Amino acid sequence: MSHGLRFDFSNVLAERCGPEGLALERLQAFAPTAEAAVGAMNAERAAGRRGFLDLPTETAGVDACMKAAAELAGRFDDLVVLGIGGSALGTIAVAEALNGPWWNAMDSAARGGRPRLHVLDNVDPDEMHSLLQRLDPRRTLINIISKSGSTAETMAQYLVFRERFESVLGAAAKDHFVVTTDAEKGYLRPIVKEKGYRSFVVPDNVGGRFSVLTPVGMFPLAVLGVDLRKLLQGAEDMRVRCSKPVLAENPGALLASTHMLLYRDRQKNMAVLMPYSRRLLNLADWFRQLWAESLGKRKATDGRDVYVGQTPIRALGTTDQHSQTQLYVEGPSDKVYTVVGVDRFAAELPVPPGFKDVPGLSYLGGSSINKLMEAERVATMLAFVAAGRPTIEIRLPVVDAYHVGQFLMAWEVATALSGDFLRIDAFDQPGVEAAKNATYALMGRQGYEVEAARIRAELAKPAILSC
Ligand code: PA5
Repeated sequence: MSHGLRFDFSNVLAERCGPEGLALERLQAFAPTAEAAVGAMNAERAAGRRGFLDLPTETAGVDACMKAAAELAGRFDDLVVLGIGGSALGTIAVAEALNGPWWNAMDSAARGGRPRLHVLDNVDPDEMHSLLQRLDPRRTLINIISKSGSTAETMAQYLVFRERFESVLGAAAKDHFVVTTDAEKGYLRPIVKEKGYRSFVVPDNVGGRFSVLTPVGMFPLAVLGVDLRKLLQGAEDMRVRCSKPVLAENPGALLASTHMLLYRDRQKNMAVLMPYSRRLLNLADWFRQLWAESLGKRKATDGRDVYVGQTPIRALGTTDQHSQTQLYVEGPSDKVYTVVGVDRFAAELPVPPGFKDVPGLSYLGGSSINKLMEAERVATMLAFVAAGRPTIEIRLPVVDAYHVGQFLMAWEVATALSGDFLRIDAFDQPGVEAAKNATYALMGRQGYEVEAARIRAELAKPAILSC
């Protein structure tokens, strides 16, 4: 087994990237704070209050997911996940990293008889309608995922799919629905009992965006044939690395410390995660939610208004070199960059000989696409550093379940520790509630009449500037 992910923080240091970076001395002075936060995190874990850290070694839920997936194997051509936010993004990210972005376009044999995956993390009528049009209910499995069991989008989707599937399949529809929700709370659990659906539990002490290693991600990923054991082993090995009490040896603590010090001291208000691998693109999307929803907070834990947070941005190398890099190199110096590289891609793609007589292109023929990708990645990093932009490098030996598990855990720990450094609660999301409540009011939900009246008054105001 390889050592795992490699992290290089050299290029966030002022010694490398100049005054916009972090002086090594500053990082060293911060080490006691970071190490105390790691100690506190380990203690919280021991007290059962950091559930996400225990997931890699809690095998019961995973065993149940694998057993169910084995029982259902071969029966379905399509798996539809109905869920949003933390109930969707981890599955999308891991499935795409491990099965590749063209999974749904492959034929069944190439997919090993596993179903296509459709994650409906929106209520776009056109998207939902066109998916419904092309699904055969007899060969489709629906996984409804909602920790709260009350999210409007997911519950509305469920009603649409239930009606469609029951009208085609009658009583047999029950075997096409699997529910993942809280053990007791919410509206989904009673539905499970009433309908007799197969179900899984989201542990109470794990929040949505930290839940990819619960049945939220584990069941759909098991159905898709992902090696869950390796994914969890990677996460566990990273958890161990991230529990180390010495900052310089702890990747999660270094990710958190460098990001938060650059945010505080150098006004790096944005964090760009830029993998040079199409398979990893949606891990950057998963990170975007984790970082934004966990760290973007108005209140500190002591109740003060602090309005903190670093805006996460996903970018893709080399694609975004032709879209974003101009801004990243010459625009405002307000970002921390994390560039992710892969040592060994699954494919090795030589570039055939050609352009021999074209001096400006002759270097390409006889090289390889892999070499070009790596050259572009290194060149971009060097350009960032030369422009004085603090840049972290993460390297995966290969994109496989083990290293993806490591990646997930490193960022989860970094997020939790960053919350500690900012003195905010990284595990709540009060800012999401206002829009949720307004939606309920607009949709006529009982108990939201006062909010509905407020919104009506708001909407009745004449426009001041419109065309
Ligand atoms: O991270 C979170 O807590 C959120 O993004 C939730 O996952 C999202 O709002 C969906 O919630 P639920 O799973 O309760 O439907």
